[in-house]
Amino acid sequence: MIKVSPSVLASDFSHLADEVKKIENSGADYVHLDVMDGVFVPNITFGAPVIKALRPHSKITFDVHLMIVDPIRYIKDFVDAGADIITFHYESCENHEEVIDLIHSYGIKAAISLKPNTSYEVLKPLIHKLDMVLVMTVEPGYGGQKFIEKTLDTIRGTAGLIKEIGADIDIEVDGGIYEENACVPISAGANVIVAGSAFFKSFDPATTVHKLRGN
Ligand code: DX5
Ligand code: ZN
Repeated sequence: MIKVSPSVLASDFSHLADEVKKIENSGADYVHLDVMDGVFVPNITFGAPVIKALRPHSKITFDVHLMIVDPIRYIKDFVDAGADIITFHYESCENHEEVIDLIHSYGIKAAISLKPNTSYEVLKPLIHKLDMVLVMTVEPGYGGQKFIEKTLDTIRGTAGLIKEIGADIDIEVDGGIYEENACVPISAGANVIVAGSAFFKSFDPATTVHKLRGN
């Protein structure tokens, strides 16, 4: 079953709670929350206090994508804010195992994200510890960019590693994904689709979610 995780990055930030409700009502599986610090990526979005303020408005799974340097400093804050899944970037730190273990110590899911130029091979020593891998299909930092085709190799490589160890690990893809091309990363092995522009520019979000599942 393919899951859909609409990103609030493309939503109206002045009505965030309503936008989360819109995601929930569309039948999507997760809400994708893009946290950017202006250092790991050029853009700045929001942090744990905003996520905490949204938490009472919805029971939907909060899929938190950290694009911040040295993420271990803030894991507890995002757990306390109500994150259900925390993804951090491979390129953002060196203590990967420590970060994964800390996230798991709070009883929630841990994922690592790879930028488009990072090889899936870096996952080899870590894959068995992960609940999900997030393959960036654009350079992180902004919504509305074009899907980078070569990231399909990263998806395929990651799927191969997961198959080798016979584990149940999700592959999420993020960036430049629309109704028309969602089937491409899905065919390569992805099973969680992030969509910012595709969801929030849609006039019929429920149908968009259905189509993003590759239907
Ligand atoms: C980009 C973010 C994405 C972004 C995707 O760094 O990680 O989640 O919201 O936006 P679209 O779907 O518009 O490419
Ligand atoms: Zn994201």
